[in-house]
Amino acid sequence: MLRKKSHILLIVVISVTSSVFILDACKKKDVLITTPLQFKIPAGWPQPTEYFVNNPVNEETFQIGRKLFYEGKLSKDGNFPCASCHQPFASYTTFQHDRSHGYNHSHTLRNAPGLLNVAWLNELFWDGSQDHLYVSLTHITRPDEMAENMDTVLQKLRNDTSYIRMFRAAFGDNKITGLRLLKALEQFVAFIITDNSKYDKVMRGETTFTPAEENGYTIFKSKCAVCHKEPLFTDNSFRNIGLPIDPVLKDYGRMRVTGDKNDSLKFRVPGLRNVMLTSYYAHDGRFSDVGQMLLHYAGGVQHGPTLDPLLVNGIPLTANEMSYLISFMSALTDASVTTNPRFLKP
Ligand code: HEC
Ligand code: HEC
Repeated sequence: MLRKKSHILLIVVISVTSSVFILDACKKKDVLITTPLQFKIPAGWPQPTEYFVNNPVNEETFQIGRKLFYEGKLSKDGNFPCASCHQPFASYTTFQHDRSHGYNHSHTLRNAPGLLNVAWLNELFWDGSQDHLYVSLTHITRPDEMAENMDTVLQKLRNDTSYIRMFRAAFGDNKITGLRLLKALEQFVAFIITDNSKYDKVMRGETTFTPAEENGYTIFKSKCAVCHKEPLFTDNSFRNIGLPIDPVLKDYGRMRVTGDKNDSLKFRVPGLRNVMLTSYYAHDGRFSDVGQMLLHYAGGVQHGPTLDPLLVNGIPLTANEMSYLISFMSALTDASVTTNPRFLKP
């Protein structure tokens, strides 16, 4: 009899603890289950710089980032979502604009860079003034861009049930915070990777260059690749290529960040992937096509104390060489990244 009792007691204890355990597991399941998403580094590429610090990658967070990228509520008057300046079809630049439009008829100081392979950039912006992919905060608050403040943005999002639902799915509760917003945008932007241009296919042995592209590649390797280093077509350094300063914009580039006059007129070497889709060119978009950029290297380089030593004689180029270089740069086009539905407005 006694024995029987203790048995029952044991069974009760076990069943109570196990049901508590199951309940607990269910609760955790509700909180933690997200859809895994893998950040793939293309074969032969270096490790990226930005690698989602305290920002676990998953589909739910990525999708919040995607929605936010097209979200007018991030800007003061609703008209300037990220995608108004970073237009996917123009390879995430502002289509055929030297500089972008911002709030209240203002203009940005610089040409909007294409947001390609940004996870590999050491420092962001033309002058490297941002060192983290949380650049969205800068954009949201700049008066000549989105002209909004984070608190108001968060208020607007908290009034939107679709965001409440999405934040709960990604983070386990419905708190819409500034940090979570920045993390989601970081994930969206970092996943815009281009590694499937003709150039990449040639490098992988899947196809071959035309003779013109091949000639262009040879010239590129000898005259351009030191700065526009493969496979990202930038070495992430800041350099002065001898562009005369714009007397109105007075943009001294890297010097604005470091305060060092040795950095005057230096700008980050831009990656050249999709360069044929990203007009205009240079930090202030002063050139409307790449041909003008090449004419600059061949004959327009202005001397000055911080001019890059590689460019003291410019880069002599014949008309034929220019045309080969343009053929090669056309082989850097990867239209899939600009049309991939995954990155388009949800
Ligand atoms: C009003 C136009 C405008 C809007 C809106 C805008 N950007 Fe930008 N973006 C720019 C410009 C211009 C730069 C370059 C700034 C500089 O170099 O000073 C830039 C730079 C960047 C960079 C760095 C790229 C690089 O190569 O260094 C990232 C990343 C970026 N933007 C993401 C975003 C995100 C995310 C949003 C939305 C939260 C956004 N942008 C909204 C114009 C804009
Ligand atoms: C000394 C380093 C260096 C060399 C060599 C060099 N570039 Fe550049 N390139 C830069 C920098 C820095 C910029 C941005 C300058 C700026 O905007 O002030 C740039 C800008 C460009 C741009 C504009 C890209 C954009 O998105 O706006 C193109 C195109 C370009 N270079 C092509 C070439 C080609 C082709 C060659 C070889 C003939 C070459 N570069 C040689 C450093 C270099």
